[in-house]
Amino acid sequence: MNVLVTGGCGFIGANFVHQQRRLYPTDRLVILDALTYCGNLHNLEGLNHDPGLSFVRGDICDADLVAQLFRDERFDAVVHFAAESHVDRSILGPMPFVRTNVIGTTTLLEAARKAQTAKFLHVSTDEVYGTLAPSDPAFTEQTPLSPRSPYAASKAASDHLALAYAHTYGMPVVVTRCSNNYGPYQFPEKLLPLMILSALEDKPLPVYGDGMQVRDWIYVEDHCAGIDAALRIGQPGEVYNFGGRAERPNLDMVHAILELVDKPRSLIRFVADRPGHDRRYAVDCAKAERALGWRARWTLTDGLRETVRWYREHPAWCHSVRSGEYRTFYERNYTMRPDTASEVAQCG
Ligand code: NAD
Ligand code: TYD
Repeated sequence: MNVLVTGGCGFIGANFVHQQRRLYPTDRLVILDALTYCGNLHNLEGLNHDPGLSFVRGDICDADLVAQLFRDERFDAVVHFAAESHVDRSILGPMPFVRTNVIGTTTLLEAARKAQTAKFLHVSTDEVYGTLAPSDPAFTEQTPLSPRSPYAASKAASDHLALAYAHTYGMPVVVTRCSNNYGPYQFPEKLLPLMILSALEDKPLPVYGDGMQVRDWIYVEDHCAGIDAALRIGQPGEVYNFGGRAERPNLDMVHAILELVDKPRSLIRFVADRPGHDRRYAVDCAKAERALGWRARWTLTDGLRETVRWYREHPAWCHSVRSGEYRTFYERNYTMRPDTASEVAQCG
């Protein structure tokens, strides 16, 4: 297959690219990524000389660039990760979320529709369903969307557009909605990498509110395996939930990390709660298990241990991400053409 992967330099996108190269070495992947603050070419380490991979630096909202890409290449599928993804940032400034997540997604859908691309997989989140009370049943694909943060609202809007393209134009769109991911290459603004890196440096760990908000944690490799299954055998117009069957309060996760890095709980600081903080997410992924033959393989214990090991063993990555050094990597290693907004370059 020739697959366009948007956001392939972000956390989940990069993990997906690594996994795809291992599973399908003869496929061709074109990565479209704007390299925003969290997009990082270092996340594609080891793939620099892979002839089956090419990288396009560009914005999914740039309709001319996207249209050109679909004219230059005949894609068998699009896997769409690119997004603004952090709730706290969406509270501080919703506009980039509306721009990338809504307009960017629609720009891609439009290009794929015109090119009659055979599959469009839209990667979404359980946060579109809203929040749950402690005894509520987990989200199913039938749960009405009730997003409560600007991030979740922008993702819900993009889900509606993706499914509207399936309904109106008969486009082969598949939507996946996953719970909170953790694992290698996650930008340290999200809970787990922030806590791991802060604990390793004996810095305070900021826990919002009472720390009793519940998330369903999934190791990123399991999410990527689900996306792969949905890409290959998911049915057009369908939504598939993925989750790790590992609901935990935030405070338990922070305690687990402190134990793994052998640091005291006295590093924890309870800080002001996030405005509109969703109390609980839980995902029922029975449909994906039944229809795609998918199952989360990693236990939380093993996944957390592996994640902590990865951050410990990648001090250079952690340093470059924290210092912002990675943001000049592209300019230092790729030739910029002044006549184009974006640069097309073969990786390496
Ligand atoms: P991330 O923030 O780590 O990466 C996003 C990537 O998209 C980056 O490489 C960034 O450079 C790129 N990007 C952003 N705006 C762009 C634009 N306008 N044009 C081109 N590229 C752009 O995000 P992530 O955590 O890897 O999430 C990937 C996808 O998975 C998102 O759609 C997110 O909503 C979804 N998701 C994430 C989680 C999670 O726990 N992280 C859970 C479920 C679903
Ligand atoms: P986050 O990783 O931002 O993911 P999301 O908001 O998409 O679930 O946050 C996970 C949970 O951790 C969420 O309930 C907010 C909480 N949190 C903290 O308590 N402290 C922090 O510093 C961060 C970043 C998050």
